Amino acid sequence: MCNVNQKRLKLGVLGSGKGSNFVAIAEAARSGEIPVDIVLVMSDSPDAGILDRAKSYGIASRYLFPGNSKTRLEAKEEQNYITALKEAGAEWIALAGFMRILKKDFLDAFPEKVINIHPSLLPMFPGLCAWKQAINYGVKVTGVTVHYVDSGIDSGPIIAQRAVPVKKDDTPETLHQRIQIEEHKLYPAVLKELALGEKGKYTLT
Ligand code: GRF
Repeated sequence: MCNVNQKRLKLGVLGSGKGSNFVAIAEAARSGEIPVDIVLVMSDSPDAGILDRAKSYGIASRYLFPGNSKTRLEAKEEQNYITALKEAGAEWIALAGFMRILKKDFLDAFPEKVINIHPSLLPMFPGLCAWKQAINYGVKVTGVTVHYVDSGIDSGPIIAQRAVPVKKDDTPETLHQRIQIEEHKLYPAVLKELALGEKGKYTLT
């Protein structure tokens, strides 16, 4: 349980999808397992499940227009995202299935405080559908990585990783499900370490 005097990590979450990682973080925060306050959830997609899930936790949530690019936030829109997160008091940003590349302005607004979760053991299989890439390549082990975000694609410094074996009869769906089980444990665990200032404790298992 959290010490009441402990500094709490003020977290903004960005996501484009169903939000299961958001739920894992929100559950851990609600139960007192991690000293984290989710101050705002934002999405670039008005229909993203993550927005409904945030509402169900009573957490502020917003769709913000990302601009016309399909792969990044455009300059003016990126500023809008920064402003909304700052106004909400976010100090750290967790990307949880956010499908756009963030650029220098965003990263400079939250220096070394933007993290992402990726469904592979980076630097293997960056980019989309990493679980499918793992099956197609024929690796026997894949996993999950939480890393700092830089301006590349899934390329920032690694904070923590967990391995997930690939089974002979895995389909992309069954492998992704098992990867997500690990994601839901690792993301809250990393946030707890970051909140406590114990970066770097997690290693490949
Ligand atoms: C996760 O698999 C994460 O690793 C990737 O996007 C997916 C998001 O899933 N970056 P969810 O929306 O949290 O369920």
